[in-house]
Amino acid sequence: MSEPQPDPLTRAPLDLDAVAAATEEVTAGVAVASTRWRGLDHAITVTSYTWVSRDPALLLVCVHEDARFLDAVEQAGAWGLSVLAQDQRAVAGWLATPGRPAVGQLSRVPHRPGPATGVPLLDGALAAFECRTTAAHPAGDHVVVVGEVVGLDHPAAGADPLVRFRRSYHALA
Ligand SMILES: Cc1cc2nc3c(=O)[nH]c(=O)nc-3n(C[C@H](O)[C@H](O)[C@H](O)COP(=O)(O)O)c2cc1C
Repeated sequence: MSEPQPDPLTRAPLDLDAVAAATEEVTAGVAVASTRWRGLDHAITVTSYTWVSRDPALLLVCVHEDARFLDAVEQAGAWGLSVLAQDQRAVAGWLATPGRPAVGQLSRVPHRPGPATGVPLLDGALAAFECRTTAAHPAGDHVVVVGEVVGLDHPAAGADPLVRFRRSYHALA
């Protein structure tokens, strides 16, 4: 016979801090999501992104509801995703810094406009995708932004990826 299960109504409330801490055990590639809106470049470091569909080619990125980037990407309707190489940890740190100036976020980060959409794409990235937003789904305190890939580049094909694990950046090798 199977063991009796705890009553879901009397179970202690879930410890959300413990859940958040446990997510640090997830190994993730680091990328920069970027867009251009009203003449300004906006960019943030992300690990909550993935490939969704091959045909059509869809990517998603989860953006926190308080991120300034969310307003910009919702208005712009197009965004870039640059998958970072291991020598780009300073870029990852900068673009994850809360309260950094809204103007000139990429002024010291080598980049160029994507030919399909004009969104900034980072030099030195393993892969750089240009996407047009096809859907935005609120999910808890984030918005899942889905986009169709309309442009692709490999600025640093063959380089090693930047990886995030247990609150630190790592190289694979
Ligand atoms: C390694 C790492 C991964 C992150 N991943 C995400 C993410 O997937 N989505 C997100 O909204 N914020 C993520 N953040 C936090 C944003 O990079 C950070 O809040 C940024 O400063 C937001 O900038 P903004 O307010 O100018 O948009 C991450 C931060 C770090 C350090």
